[in-house]
Amino acid sequence: MIPIAEPSLGKEELNNVIEVVKSSWISSKGRFIGEFEERFAQYCGVKYGVAVSNGTTALHLALRVLGIKEGDEVIVPDLTFVATANAVRYCNAKPVFVDSDPRYWCIDPEKIEGVITKKTKAIIPVHLYGHPCDMDSILKIAKTHNLYVVEDCAEAHGAEYKGKRVGSFGDINCFSFYGNKMITTGEGGMCITNSKELADKMRILKNHGMNPKKRYWYDVIGFNYRMTNLQAAIGLAQLEKLDKFIAKKRRIAKWYSQELKDLERKNFIKLHPKMPWAKCVYWMYSILIEDGFGTKRDDLAKILEEKEIDTRPLFYPIHIMPPYKKDNIKNLPIAERLGNFGLNLPSSVKLAQRDIITISQAIKEVSK
Ligand SMILES: Cc1ncc(COP(=O)(O)O)c(C=O)c1O
Repeated sequence: MIPIAEPSLGKEELNNVIEVVKSSWISSKGRFIGEFEERFAQYCGVKYGVAVSNGTTALHLALRVLGIKEGDEVIVPDLTFVATANAVRYCNAKPVFVDSDPRYWCIDPEKIEGVITKKTKAIIPVHLYGHPCDMDSILKIAKTHNLYVVEDCAEAHGAEYKGKRVGSFGDINCFSFYGNKMITTGEGGMCITNSKELADKMRILKNHGMNPKKRYWYDVIGFNYRMTNLQAAIGLAQLEKLDKFIAKKRRIAKWYSQELKDLERKNFIKLHPKMPWAKCVYWMYSILIEDGFGTKRDDLAKILEEKEIDTRPLFYPIHIMPPYKKDNIKNLPIAERLGNFGLNLPSSVKLAQRDIITISQAIKEVSK
């Protein structure tokens, strides 16, 4: 089976893990955590990093520290992984869904102002499938309406918007290091920020709320959202390879575009988008299966599976999911269309050009 994703781990990760095991510092204390936090934040051009247990807890922690609470509204894209909206719900606040820009699939800034109310406190732009959001427009709206911005960078480590890396625009910005992400720590995540005050608050809240100067004294109710030294050891070795992984993902994207461009010319499919201001990292190379293709997205996925090629549908819009459906949200046609027609193709950095040719060939055969 050609997998949709597969982490690339080598002797560097192994050596770090061996060091941790030998040191016996396998829990959430040890040299690798601070080093990983510092180096990752630095990579993104931000001052402070706070490592956490996963990307979802990163989002929850960020929202909690910014004071998001019951009665508040937070603007999120309709087309994203469900954790973006769930994190808002964990704060007992309401996620307000905004449609995608059809040109590059991320949240459409032009549709944000229309949903802002007195209750709106924050916007969570999600850099979907490695493509950055239009941050200038989003930051302008946030400034005008006095809203926090929390970038969800779970899928876009190293992506750039107008020459600046994602994660350097919002008040607190969140990453995931799940096994299929640009770099992985198994499970894991990080919040990065330029505010020492926010970073300090997050360090307390992720550690049960314990007062850093007085052991076993809790001024607030916190969480155990800590990353382990073992995870950070892997993360640090992965970070060294991130630029190499990005370069490989871009090569994979180029190979797919070359192989599939004829199908796009015939309007059978649409290739993974890229705006001129964006440096996309193509976390998952994705295409839209148009009506002209002649076979529906899900049927194509089945045929590819029979040929041992693993794929995924694009995310379904969140507003159609049972927990969110009752809000009776309508008029998000772009997210619905993308959710119905989009397909993620195998995008592991371990794939070779011949794999991409095999996959593209299989897609072309179905279209005939
Ligand atoms: C956009 C987005 N946000 C949040 C998450 C949650 O991250 P995690 O799985 O590490 O909790 C993910 C991925 O899993 C994601 O793709």
